[in-house]
Amino acid sequence: MKKILALAAACTAICMLFAGCGNSSTSNSESTINTEATTTQQTEATGTTESVESTEVPAANDDETQGIDYMALVNKLNALPDYWEKTVETVHCTNSLGDDVEVEKKAYDAYLALKSDLEAEGVFVDLDSARRSIADQERIMKDFTEKYGADYAAKIVATPGFSEHHTGLALDLYLNIDGEDVYLNEDMVQYPEIWAKIHEKLADYGFILRYLEDKEHITGYGYEPWHLRYIDDVDKAREITEKGITLEEYLGAVKSSDVNVDYGSSDIFTEEELKEAAVQVKCKFATFEGCELHSLRYAGDESNSEENLARMKEFDDTADYVEVIEFLTDFHTPEDGSQVFDADSEMTDYQWWLAREKDGGWQLISWGK
Ligand code: DAL
Ligand code: ZN
Repeated sequence: MKKILALAAACTAICMLFAGCGNSSTSNSESTINTEATTTQQTEATGTTESVESTEVPAANDDETQGIDYMALVNKLNALPDYWEKTVETVHCTNSLGDDVEVEKKAYDAYLALKSDLEAEGVFVDLDSARRSIADQERIMKDFTEKYGADYAAKIVATPGFSEHHTGLALDLYLNIDGEDVYLNEDMVQYPEIWAKIHEKLADYGFILRYLEDKEHITGYGYEPWHLRYIDDVDKAREITEKGITLEEYLGAVKSSDVNVDYGSSDIFTEEELKEAAVQVKCKFATFEGCELHSLRYAGDESNSEENLARMKEFDDTADYVEVIEFLTDFHTPEDGSQVFDADSEMTDYQWWLAREKDGGWQLISWGK
Protein backbone atom coordinates (compact mmCIF):
# COMPACT_ATOMS: atom_id res chain seq x y z
CA MET A 1 0.00 0.00 0.00
CA LYS A 2 1.52 3.22 -1.04
CA LYS A 3 1.85 6.29 1.09
CA ILE A 4 -0.99 8.60 0.49
CA LEU A 5 0.64 11.62 1.99
CA ALA A 6 3.42 13.30 0.15
CA LEU A 7 6.61 12.71 2.03
CA ALA A 8 8.33 15.82 0.84
CA ALA A 9 11.16 15.63 3.28
CA ALA A 10 11.88 12.07 2.41
CA CYS A 11 11.84 12.84 -1.30
CA THR A 12 14.47 15.48 -0.99
CA ALA A 13 16.67 13.31 1.13
CA ILE A 14 19.61 11.57 -0.39
CA CYS A 15 18.27 8.53 -2.12
CA MET A 16 19.82 5.80 -0.06
CA LEU A 17 17.57 3.55 -1.99
CA PHE A 18 18.51 0.20 -0.68
CA ALA A 19 20.19 1.25 2.50
CA GLY A 20 19.43 0.15 5.97
CA CYS A 21 17.92 -3.27 5.58
CA GLY A 22 19.17 -5.79 8.09
CA ASN A 23 18.05 -8.82 9.96
CA SER A 24 17.41 -7.10 13.19
CA SER A 25 14.80 -9.39 14.59
CA THR A 26 13.66 -12.87 13.95
CA SER A 27 10.66 -13.15 16.15
CA ASN A 28 7.33 -11.54 15.99
CA SER A 29 6.01 -10.45 19.29
CA GLU A 30 3.48 -7.96 18.07
CA SER A 31 0.65 -10.44 18.12
CA THR A 32 -2.03 -7.88 17.68
CA ILE A 33 -3.90 -9.49 14.86
CA ASN A 34 -7.43 -10.23 15.81
CA THR A 35 -8.51 -13.18 13.82
CA GLU A 36 -11.92 -12.87 15.38
CA ALA A 37 -12.47 -9.82 13.21
CA THR A 38 -15.57 -10.49 11.25
CA THR A 39 -16.75 -9.31 7.94
CA THR A 40 -20.19 -9.49 6.66
CA GLN A 41 -18.91 -11.58 3.76
CA GLN A 42 -19.07 -14.39 6.26
CA THR A 43 -22.66 -13.82 7.14
CA GLU A 44 -24.98 -16.66 6.31
CA ALA A 45 -28.07 -15.92 4.35
CA THR A 46 -31.05 -15.62 6.56
CA GLY A 47 -34.54 -14.56 6.01
CA THR A 48 -34.28 -16.68 2.93
CA THR A 49 -34.72 -20.34 2.29
CA GLU A 50 -31.11 -21.17 1.57
CA SER A 51 -27.65 -20.48 2.71
CA VAL A 52 -24.44 -21.37 0.97
CA GLU A 53 -21.35 -22.98 2.40
CA SER A 54 -18.48 -20.92 1.20
CA THR A 55 -15.27 -22.56 0.18
CA GLU A 56 -13.19 -20.81 2.73
CA VAL A 57 -9.93 -22.64 2.62
CA PRO A 58 -8.48 -23.88 5.88
CA ALA A 59 -4.74 -23.44 6.12
CA ALA A 60 -3.07 -26.54 4.74
CA ASN A 61 -0.93 -26.48 7.83
CA ASP A 62 -2.49 -25.37 11.07
CA ASP A 63 0.18 -26.91 13.23
CA GLU A 64 2.38 -24.14 14.50
CA THR A 65 5.26 -26.55 15.16
CA GLN A 66 5.59 -27.09 11.42
CA GLY A 67 6.10 -23.45 10.54
CA ILE A 68 3.92 -21.30 8.38
CA ASP A 69 2.19 -22.49 5.24
CA TYR A 70 3.68 -20.42 2.43
CA MET A 71 0.69 -21.23 0.20
CA ALA A 72 -1.85 -20.01 2.77
CA LEU A 73 -4.77 -18.18 1.24
CA VAL A 74 -5.66 -14.95 3.00
CA ASN A 75 -8.31 -13.03 1.13
CA LYS A 76 -11.76 -11.50 1.49
CA LEU A 77 -13.15 -14.82 2.69
CA ASN A 78 -10.17 -16.28 4.53
CA ALA A 79 -8.75 -14.55 7.58
CA LEU A 80 -5.20 -14.95 8.78
CA PRO A 81 -4.85 -18.48 10.23
CA ASP A 82 -4.89 -18.56 14.02
CA TYR A 83 -1.50 -20.18 14.40
CA TRP A 84 0.28 -17.60 12.27
CA GLU A 85 1.16 -15.03 14.86
CA LYS A 86 2.97 -17.50 17.08
CA THR A 87 4.84 -19.10 14.21
CA VAL A 88 5.92 -16.53 11.68
CA GLU A 89 9.52 -15.35 11.79
CA THR A 90 10.19 -11.88 10.56
CA VAL A 91 12.98 -9.40 9.98
CA HIS A 92 12.91 -5.64 9.96
CA CYS A 93 14.50 -3.27 7.49
CA THR A 94 14.44 0.46 6.86
CA ASN A 95 13.49 1.67 3.42
CA SER A 96 14.82 4.72 1.57
CA LEU A 97 12.04 6.82 3.05
CA GLY A 98 13.17 5.92 6.56
CA ASP A 99 10.20 3.66 7.27
CA ASP A 100 10.58 0.46 9.23
CA VAL A 101 9.33 -2.48 7.18
CA GLU A 102 8.74 -5.91 8.69
CA VAL A 103 8.92 -8.92 6.37
CA GLU A 104 8.72 -12.69 6.77
CA LYS A 105 12.28 -13.98 6.90
CA LYS A 106 12.46 -16.14 3.77
CA ALA A 107 10.41 -13.67 1.78
CA TYR A 108 12.91 -11.00 2.69
CA ASP A 109 15.88 -13.06 1.50
CA ALA A 110 14.05 -13.77 -1.76
CA TYR A 111 13.25 -10.08 -2.12
CA LEU A 112 16.92 -9.13 -1.69
CA ALA A 113 17.90 -11.56 -4.44
CA LEU A 114 15.17 -10.21 -6.72
CA LYS A 115 16.17 -6.62 -6.00
CA SER A 116 19.79 -7.33 -6.80
CA ASP A 117 18.85 -9.03 -10.07
CA LEU A 118 16.68 -6.04 -11.02
CA GLU A 119 19.41 -3.57 -10.12
CA ALA A 120 21.72 -5.30 -12.58
CA GLU A 121 19.19 -4.36 -15.24
CA GLY A 122 18.83 -0.78 -14.09
CA VAL A 123 15.51 -1.26 -12.28
CA PHE A 124 15.44 0.04 -8.72
CA VAL A 125 12.82 -0.91 -6.20
CA ASP A 126 12.33 -0.65 -2.47
CA LEU A 127 9.86 -2.02 0.06
CA ASP A 128 6.98 0.23 0.91
CA SER A 129 5.03 -2.10 3.15
CA ALA A 130 5.07 -5.77 3.99
CA ARG A 131 3.77 -7.18 7.27
CA ARG A 132 1.02 -5.15 8.85
CA SER A 133 -0.82 -5.36 12.14
CA ILE A 134 -4.57 -4.95 12.35
CA ALA A 135 -4.00 -1.41 13.59
CA ASP A 136 -1.81 -0.63 10.56
CA GLN A 137 -4.52 -1.91 8.25
CA GLU A 138 -7.19 0.11 10.04
CA ARG A 139 -5.11 3.26 9.67
CA ILE A 140 -4.55 2.62 5.96
CA MET A 141 -8.26 2.00 5.42
CA LYS A 142 -9.07 5.28 7.16
CA ASP A 143 -6.46 7.25 5.19
CA PHE A 144 -7.59 5.84 1.86
CA THR A 145 -11.25 6.40 2.67
CA GLU A 146 -10.54 10.02 3.52
CA LYS A 147 -8.39 10.65 0.48
CA TYR A 148 -10.09 8.60 -2.23
CA GLY A 149 -13.55 7.75 -0.89
CA ALA A 150 -14.95 4.53 0.49
CA ASP A 151 -15.52 2.77 -2.82
CA TYR A 152 -11.96 3.14 -4.03
CA ALA A 153 -10.69 2.21 -0.57
CA ALA A 154 -12.73 -1.00 -0.58
CA LYS A 155 -11.25 -1.90 -3.95
CA ILE A 156 -7.66 -1.43 -2.86
CA VAL A 157 -7.54 -1.97 0.92
CA ALA A 158 -8.42 -5.23 2.65
CA THR A 159 -10.65 -5.37 5.71
CA PRO A 160 -8.41 -5.53 8.79
CA GLY A 161 -7.93 -9.22 9.67
CA PHE A 162 -8.32 -10.26 6.03
CA SER A 163 -5.24 -8.65 4.50
CA GLU A 164 -2.54 -10.79 3.02
CA HIS A 165 -0.16 -8.23 4.49
CA HIS A 166 -0.82 -9.70 7.94
CA THR A 167 1.17 -12.75 6.84
CA GLY A 168 4.42 -10.91 6.13
CA LEU A 169 4.49 -12.68 2.76
CA ALA A 170 2.90 -9.81 0.83
CA LEU A 171 5.33 -7.11 -0.26
CA ASP A 172 4.42 -3.75 -1.74
CA LEU A 173 7.21 -2.30 -3.84
CA TYR A 174 7.86 1.25 -4.89
CA LEU A 175 10.12 2.48 -7.63
CA ASN A 176 13.15 4.69 -7.83
CA ILE A 177 13.37 6.31 -11.23
CA ASP A 178 16.29 8.57 -12.12
CA GLY A 179 17.06 8.97 -8.44
CA GLU A 180 13.48 9.89 -7.48
CA ASP A 181 11.32 7.70 -5.30
CA VAL A 182 7.95 7.02 -6.88
CA TYR A 183 5.55 5.59 -4.31
CA LEU A 184 2.07 7.01 -4.86
CA ASN A 185 -0.28 4.55 -6.54
CA GLU A 186 -1.35 7.05 -9.15
CA ASP A 187 2.29 7.77 -10.05
CA MET A 188 3.50 4.18 -10.02
CA VAL A 189 0.90 3.04 -12.52
CA GLN A 190 2.44 5.42 -15.05
CA TYR A 191 5.36 3.00 -15.53
CA PRO A 192 3.92 -0.22 -16.98
CA GLU A 193 7.16 -1.02 -18.81
CA ILE A 194 9.13 -1.00 -15.55
CA TRP A 195 6.54 -3.18 -13.81
CA ALA A 196 6.67 -5.60 -16.74
CA LYS A 197 10.43 -6.01 -16.22
CA ILE A 198 9.86 -6.63 -12.52
CA HIS A 199 6.99 -9.06 -13.07
CA GLU A 200 8.92 -11.23 -15.47
CA LYS A 201 11.46 -12.02 -12.76
CA LEU A 202 9.11 -12.67 -9.85
CA ALA A 203 8.58 -16.40 -10.27
CA ASP A 204 12.33 -17.08 -10.36
CA TYR A 205 12.45 -15.95 -6.74
CA GLY A 206 9.27 -17.66 -5.55
CA PHE A 207 6.96 -14.64 -5.90
CA ILE A 208 3.71 -14.18 -7.76
CA LEU A 209 1.83 -11.03 -8.68
CA ARG A 210 -1.23 -11.32 -6.50
CA TYR A 211 -3.79 -8.86 -7.88
CA LEU A 212 -3.89 -9.28 -11.63
CA GLU A 213 -5.62 -7.15 -14.21
CA ASP A 214 -9.05 -8.51 -15.14
CA LYS A 215 -9.17 -10.84 -12.13
CA GLU A 216 -10.96 -8.45 -9.86
CA HIS A 217 -14.03 -10.67 -9.80
CA ILE A 218 -11.90 -13.38 -8.21
CA THR A 219 -9.50 -11.55 -5.93
CA GLY A 220 -11.94 -8.77 -5.07
CA TYR A 221 -9.23 -6.16 -5.61
CA GLY A 222 -8.17 -4.02 -8.53
CA TYR A 223 -4.86 -4.39 -10.36
CA GLU A 224 -1.87 -3.80 -8.07
CA PRO A 225 1.41 -4.06 -10.01
CA TRP A 226 3.34 -3.44 -6.78
CA HIS A 227 1.83 -6.16 -4.56
CA LEU A 228 3.93 -9.33 -4.61
CA ARG A 229 3.20 -12.51 -2.72
CA TYR A 230 5.95 -14.88 -1.68
CA ILE A 231 5.00 -18.57 -1.95
CA ASP A 232 8.44 -20.15 -1.39
CA ASP A 233 8.19 -22.43 -4.42
CA VAL A 234 9.71 -21.45 -7.73
CA ASP A 235 7.99 -24.21 -9.72
CA LYS A 236 4.55 -23.31 -8.41
CA ALA A 237 5.24 -19.61 -8.91
CA ARG A 238 6.24 -20.29 -12.53
CA GLU A 239 3.13 -22.39 -13.13
CA ILE A 240 0.82 -19.74 -11.65
CA THR A 241 2.53 -17.00 -13.65
CA GLU A 242 2.57 -18.91 -16.93
CA LYS A 243 -1.12 -19.78 -16.60
CA GLY A 244 -1.96 -16.19 -15.68
CA ILE A 245 -4.11 -17.33 -12.79
CA THR A 246 -4.74 -16.13 -9.27
CA LEU A 247 -3.76 -17.94 -6.10
CA GLU A 248 -7.47 -18.61 -5.56
CA GLU A 249 -7.69 -20.39 -8.91
CA TYR A 250 -4.47 -22.31 -8.34
CA LEU A 251 -5.71 -23.57 -4.98
CA GLY A 252 -9.12 -24.44 -6.43
CA ALA A 253 -10.75 -22.00 -4.06
CA VAL A 254 -12.89 -20.41 -6.73
CA LYS A 255 -14.39 -21.09 -10.06
CA SER A 256 -14.01 -18.24 -12.48
CA SER A 257 -17.49 -16.97 -13.26
CA ASP A 258 -17.67 -13.80 -15.19
CA VAL A 259 -20.64 -12.23 -16.87
CA ASN A 260 -21.40 -8.75 -18.03
CA VAL A 261 -23.31 -7.04 -15.29
CA ASP A 262 -26.56 -5.32 -16.16
CA TYR A 263 -26.43 -2.13 -14.13
CA GLY A 264 -29.77 -0.88 -15.40
CA SER A 265 -30.16 2.73 -14.38
CA SER A 266 -29.96 4.41 -11.03
CA ASP A 267 -30.68 7.90 -9.75
CA ILE A 268 -28.97 7.07 -6.46
CA PHE A 269 -25.74 5.28 -7.25
CA THR A 270 -22.99 5.98 -9.76
CA GLU A 271 -21.86 3.19 -12.05
CA GLU A 272 -18.62 3.04 -10.05
CA GLU A 273 -20.61 2.45 -6.86
CA LEU A 274 -22.69 -0.23 -8.53
CA LYS A 275 -19.53 -1.88 -9.88
CA GLU A 276 -17.98 -2.03 -6.40
CA ALA A 277 -21.03 -3.82 -5.11
CA ALA A 278 -21.20 -6.18 -8.10
CA VAL A 279 -17.56 -7.21 -7.64
CA GLN A 280 -18.35 -8.36 -4.12
CA VAL A 281 -21.23 -10.44 -5.40
CA LYS A 282 -18.99 -12.02 -8.04
CA CYS A 283 -16.32 -12.78 -5.48
CA LYS A 284 -18.77 -14.56 -3.24
CA PHE A 285 -20.46 -16.34 -6.11
CA ALA A 286 -17.05 -17.61 -7.19
CA THR A 287 -17.09 -19.78 -4.07
CA PHE A 288 -20.36 -21.52 -5.07
CA GLU A 289 -18.75 -24.76 -6.14
CA GLY A 290 -19.80 -26.04 -9.55
CA CYS A 291 -22.35 -23.26 -10.14
CA GLU A 292 -22.36 -21.40 -13.44
CA LEU A 293 -23.34 -17.77 -13.40
CA HIS A 294 -25.71 -16.74 -16.18
CA SER A 295 -26.86 -13.29 -15.20
CA LEU A 296 -26.08 -10.59 -12.66
CA ARG A 297 -28.20 -7.47 -12.55
CA TYR A 298 -28.96 -4.46 -10.38
CA ALA A 299 -32.40 -4.85 -8.85
CA GLY A 300 -33.27 -1.16 -8.92
CA ASP A 301 -33.37 1.92 -6.73
CA GLU A 302 -36.54 0.85 -4.96
CA SER A 303 -34.57 -1.74 -2.96
CA ASN A 304 -32.84 1.09 -1.13
CA SER A 305 -35.79 1.41 1.25
CA GLU A 306 -36.12 2.02 4.97
CA GLU A 307 -37.63 -1.42 5.33
CA ASN A 308 -34.63 -3.11 3.71
CA LEU A 309 -32.21 -0.98 5.70
CA ALA A 310 -33.92 -2.18 8.87
CA ARG A 311 -33.53 -5.78 7.65
CA MET A 312 -29.81 -5.25 7.10
CA LYS A 313 -29.42 -3.83 10.59
CA GLU A 314 -30.87 -7.06 11.98
CA PHE A 315 -27.62 -8.73 10.92
CA ASP A 316 -25.52 -6.32 12.92
CA ASP A 317 -27.26 -4.04 15.36
CA THR A 318 -24.04 -2.09 15.93
CA ALA A 319 -23.86 -1.09 12.27
CA ASP A 320 -25.30 2.19 11.18
CA TYR A 321 -26.15 1.37 7.58
CA VAL A 322 -27.43 4.27 5.54
CA GLU A 323 -27.84 2.65 2.13
CA VAL A 324 -28.75 -0.77 0.88
CA ILE A 325 -28.40 -2.27 -2.56
CA GLU A 326 -29.79 -5.42 -4.12
CA PHE A 327 -28.50 -7.49 -7.01
CA LEU A 328 -30.16 -10.48 -8.64
CA THR A 329 -28.51 -13.49 -10.24
CA ASP A 330 -29.51 -16.47 -12.32
CA PHE A 331 -27.21 -19.45 -12.24
CA HIS A 332 -27.10 -23.16 -12.88
CA THR A 333 -26.32 -25.67 -10.16
CA PRO A 334 -23.90 -28.58 -10.68
CA GLU A 335 -25.08 -31.87 -12.13
CA ASP A 336 -23.89 -33.80 -9.13
CA GLY A 337 -25.66 -31.44 -6.77
CA SER A 338 -24.20 -29.54 -3.86
CA GLN A 339 -24.78 -29.37 -0.15
CA VAL A 340 -27.27 -26.61 -0.66
CA PHE A 341 -28.92 -26.66 -4.06
CA ASP A 342 -30.88 -29.18 -6.05
CA ALA A 343 -28.75 -30.79 -8.72
CA ASP A 344 -28.68 -29.52 -12.29
CA SER A 345 -31.26 -26.80 -11.88
CA GLU A 346 -31.54 -23.17 -12.88
CA MET A 347 -31.77 -20.73 -9.99
CA THR A 348 -33.43 -17.49 -10.98
CA ASP A 349 -33.72 -14.16 -9.19
CA TYR A 350 -31.34 -15.27 -6.47
CA GLN A 351 -30.90 -12.21 -4.23
CA TRP A 352 -27.77 -10.47 -2.96
CA TRP A 353 -28.01 -7.73 -0.37
CA LEU A 354 -25.25 -5.25 0.44
CA ALA A 355 -25.28 -2.26 2.73
CA ARG A 356 -22.93 0.51 3.70
CA GLU A 357 -22.46 2.95 6.51
CA LYS A 358 -21.84 6.64 5.98
CA ASP A 359 -18.41 6.96 4.32
CA GLY A 360 -18.03 3.17 4.35
CA GLY A 361 -17.67 0.65 1.53
CA TRP A 362 -20.26 -1.90 0.50
CA GLN A 363 -20.53 -4.94 2.73
CA LEU A 364 -22.18 -8.10 1.53
CA ILE A 365 -24.81 -8.85 4.13
CA SER A 366 -26.92 -11.73 2.88
CA TRP A 367 -27.68 -13.82 -0.14
CA GLY A 368 -30.32 -16.38 -0.93
CA LYS A 369 -33.63 -17.06 -2.58
N1 DAL B 1 -4.00 -3.91 -0.94
C1 DAL B 1 -4.28 -5.20 -0.39
C2 DAL B 1 -5.52 -5.77 -0.99
C3 DAL B 1 -4.41 -5.16 1.11
O1 DAL B 1 -4.81 -4.12 1.65
O2 DAL B 1 -4.16 -6.15 1.73
ZN1 ZN C 1 -0.09 -4.81 -0.89
